[in-house]
Amino acid sequence: MFSFFKRTKASPNSAFSLTYMQCDWHCHVLYGIDDGAQTEEQTLEMLQEYVSLGIKKIVATPHVRADYFKNTLETIKKAHEKVERLILQNNLPLVLEASAEYFADENFLGLIKKNELLPIESQYILFELPMQQFPWGIKLVEEVQQKGYTPVLAHPERYRYWHTKPNEWKSWKNKGVCFQLNLLSLTGYYGKAERRMAEQLLDADYIDAVGTDAHGIRHLQKLADLNGNPYFDKLQQLPLLNHLG
Ligand SMILES: [Fe+2]
Repeated sequence: MFSFFKRTKASPNSAFSLTYMQCDWHCHVLYGIDDGAQTEEQTLEMLQEYVSLGIKKIVATPHVRADYFKNTLETIKKAHEKVERLILQNNLPLVLEASAEYFADENFLGLIKKNELLPIESQYILFELPMQQFPWGIKLVEEVQQKGYTPVLAHPERYRYWHTKPNEWKSWKNKGVCFQLNLLSLTGYYGKAERRMAEQLLDADYIDAVGTDAHGIRHLQKLADLNGNPYFDKLQQLPLLNHLG
């Protein structure tokens, strides 16, 4: 697809900030409950990095999936409380909310039916698809909507089976699914094809929210590679859902 944005060189000396973003809607900062931060020290490192990036609010979205990360309302609540204490003890100017990144599986369907979900800002349900084709995902979307929530698909640019099927992702969008872009996709961190797809989604004005999907401080530090990226500049002009009201 034709791109309206010329690539420009990053200016290496300008300080990088995520102040415009205000709130990170996707990260794995609650330690010991998924493949994100594993220890209190690692979480603290991430929190301090968030502060230096200018982020004011973080929504922690630990994985919830039946096979690897069997998180429940209870495990997430306990982990959230520990990190809340850490923020207080260290006087960090951060607001922390706990939500989840739901993997599209039978477990998720069960949670929707039981209404045991943790929405972002009481409204948005972040979910991810498998990296292989997934035929009944759209059924999950309808179930989420029937409960009065807005489904938000995590990193749509990372599902390679969509890369050559624009009609597929367009139809999800038309059904009312919001798209959350991983910022690092714009740097090529997940691959060239993911970067192209991220750019294509931005060119089509299909991005509603952004997130770091940070699993550790390494991902937050890598964000500086966005400096001077024209698509990152475009993002800063968009009315994203993750801006604070
Ligand atoms: Fe994630």
